[in-house]
This record gives sequence, C-alpha cells and structure tokens, in this order.
Amino acid sequence: MLVRGEYIEAVGRRREIESLISGDCEVIDAGHRVVLPGFVDAHTHPVFAGIRANEFEQRASGATYREIAARGGGIRSTVRSTRNASQAELVRAGKRYADWFLRNGTTTVEAKSGYGLTLEDELKLLRAIKQLNGETSLRYVPTFLGAHDIPTEYKSRRHLYVSLIINEMLPRIAEERLAEYCDVFCEQDVFTTDETWEILSAARCHGMGLRVHADQLSLSGGAKLAAELNAATADHLEHTDATGIMALKAAKVQPVLLPGSVYALGSSDYPAARQMIDAGLAVVLATDFNPGSSPVPSMPMILSLACTQMKMTPAETITAATINAAYSLGRGEEIGSLEKGKRADFVIHDASDYRELAYFFGIEHPWLVYASGQLVCQKPDR
Ligand code: NIG
Ligand code: FE
Repeated sequence: MLVRGEYIEAVGRRREIESLISGDCEVIDAGHRVVLPGFVDAHTHPVFAGIRANEFEQRASGATYREIAARGGGIRSTVRSTRNASQAELVRAGKRYADWFLRNGTTTVEAKSGYGLTLEDELKLLRAIKQLNGETSLRYVPTFLGAHDIPTEYKSRRHLYVSLIINEMLPRIAEERLAEYCDVFCEQDVFTTDETWEILSAARCHGMGLRVHADQLSLSGGAKLAAELNAATADHLEHTDATGIMALKAAKVQPVLLPGSVYALGSSDYPAARQMIDAGLAVVLATDFNPGSSPVPSMPMILSLACTQMKMTPAETITAATINAAYSLGRGEEIGSLEKGKRADFVIHDASDYRELAYFFGIEHPWLVYASGQLVCQKPDR
C-alpha cells in the first residue's frame, strides 16, 4: 500500500507498489502481520463526567439496569455529574477514553451528547466533542442525543421537554453546526414512539441524519419507527422481531448491534444478527461505550462477543466494524476500507491471521495505528 499525505495512493502487489516509490519514501514493514482499516465505532457515548462502578456492583448483587434507573441512578446520575463539570473537565476525561479507542485500533467514533439535557449542557457536550476532534488523533462524528432521558425537573411535564428539544435545542445546534446526526432513546419509561417521531422529524428539517436507540430493553416499536422515518440506523435491537427486521430491510436502515451492553448488563438477549444478515442487511457492530450499560472501548472485544454470542463469522464481524460502519455514518467513500483515494487510517495488528482478532480476547491487538497517514499509537517495543 502506498500512502501520500493523508490518503492512500495505491494498493496492490509488492512489485507494483515498489515501482511507484521514490527514494525519500518511508517504508513500513508489517512483518507478515495483519493490516486492516482502522475500526469505525458507529455508536458511542464518549463524553461524560464521573463513572458508575457503584451501579456495576449493585447489578452484580442482582439489581437490574431499569431498577437502578427508576430510583434516580443510571443516565440521571451521569447527567448530574456532567452538569457540574466544565467543558475543560469533560475534554480531559474524554482524552483518556480517546487513547483507549486508539490503542484498540479504532480511528473514527460516532459520539453522542445526551448527558446534559439542558440547552447549555448539551452545547457544552457537543463543543467538548468538537474540541476532542481537534485535539486528539481520533475522528469524532457528532450526534445530538438531547432525547436520552427525561430530566428530573421535567418528569411531570414531559411534553415541555420535547418542545424544548424541538424549539430551542435543535435550531441552536443546527445553527452552530454541532451535530451531523440526531438520536432518540425510544423505550418504555423514556421516549414514546410518538415523541421519537416528533423529535426526529424536526431534526430532519434541520438537515440532520437520524439514528434511533430501538428495542433495547423491550419491543417498543423503535425498529419499525426507524424504518418509517428512513433513519440511517436503528441501534441495539435486542428485542426486534421478524417484522421489525423486514421493515428495516425494506427501508434500507442499517442495524447497529451492541453486544457489549448486553454482556455488561449480564443479559443473554443478544440481537438476532444471523437473521438480519440472512435478510440482506448491512449489519454494523459498535461498542456503545458509556459509563452505564457498556463500559468497553475495545472493538476486538465486540468482535469476540459477536462471534461467540451472535454466531457471526470473524470475517462478518470485521466488515461490520469497518466498511458497513463507515457507510452508516455517511463516510463510506472516505474511510472503512484500504482502497485508493481513501483516508490512510490503518492498523497493523500483532497477529498473523485476521481471525485472531476475535479469537484471542481481552488483549490489545494493534502494533501500529495510523490515522490520516500519521502514526498515532504504537505498542512499546518488546
Ligand atoms: O446505549 N440506552 C441508552 N443509552 C445508553 C446507556 C447510557 C447509560 O447508561 O449511561 C445505551 O445503552
Ligand atoms: Fe447507546
């Protein structure tokens, strides 16, 4: 592969490439290791303050995610700490997580707001994402998730919070160009399908692409709604049935599957990946990195879960975590594969067979990580 500046200039057999290089070209010998595109993680919540190890402990003792949320923990607990944090503090925490993503071979993340739930706090989160995009080697694609929860102060007047999102948050965020996508947590006890429809229809009028947290904890109709709205993606889908899968297929909505959250919640309700692939859907795998349901930044860990728990093949998992994910973010022509004209985002994994990525789990595979042609992460010499 020949890289010039930020882009891939040619990919081919050694002889063909060697005939193109000049004397000042830096040669990187992968030493028979696997070279893959940088992972594209198309669903993350990577900017927040505080952690929720206490809830993790409570779940280990039998409490459920919903019970914890019902007593004021869960997303609301992270909202409290995030409201109290400055943009600088959020960026500092975010840089630590950016480093974790890069070390695991991820070069692009979709990044959701959603832990502020006031106009100012949502702006703060989206500005922190923008700052992280400029100050780290990780590429961030911003998504506005003001509809992540009903904030406590609006509990008895939820329609007013929906109006706030539609009439104040969306116009301001669009005006400042702080988000490419809009997402809603469509779920029992969170946003109804009607509210989700209202919010996402408004977002579309502002030119944003649409994503939906759908059918995660129950079959709430999120997948069908994502299809009606022609959303880019429907995410989670642990409880989506065959009708929902057919609706996604008919509307060309990409499923984004997040087995890390199923695992971390101690559940066994993995989404029906095989049925989705057999239906012809371009399945995406992502980490859902967040402080509650999925504290995992490692895409190789997700590939492992997808093979063992969802019966995807190692090759299918890599496709789902690279090129399919890139298309789901509207960047299929720019990233997600190693082809002429694309960004030189590539990873040399310390592996001689691509199947090792999902097979050996719990280790960091990357040896060298490049983003836009620059070395951004390197395993210490051994
Ligand atoms: O994707 N489902 C909603 N949002 C996140 C959880 C966020 C949290 O628990 O803080 C998810 O699982
Ligand atoms: Fe999520």
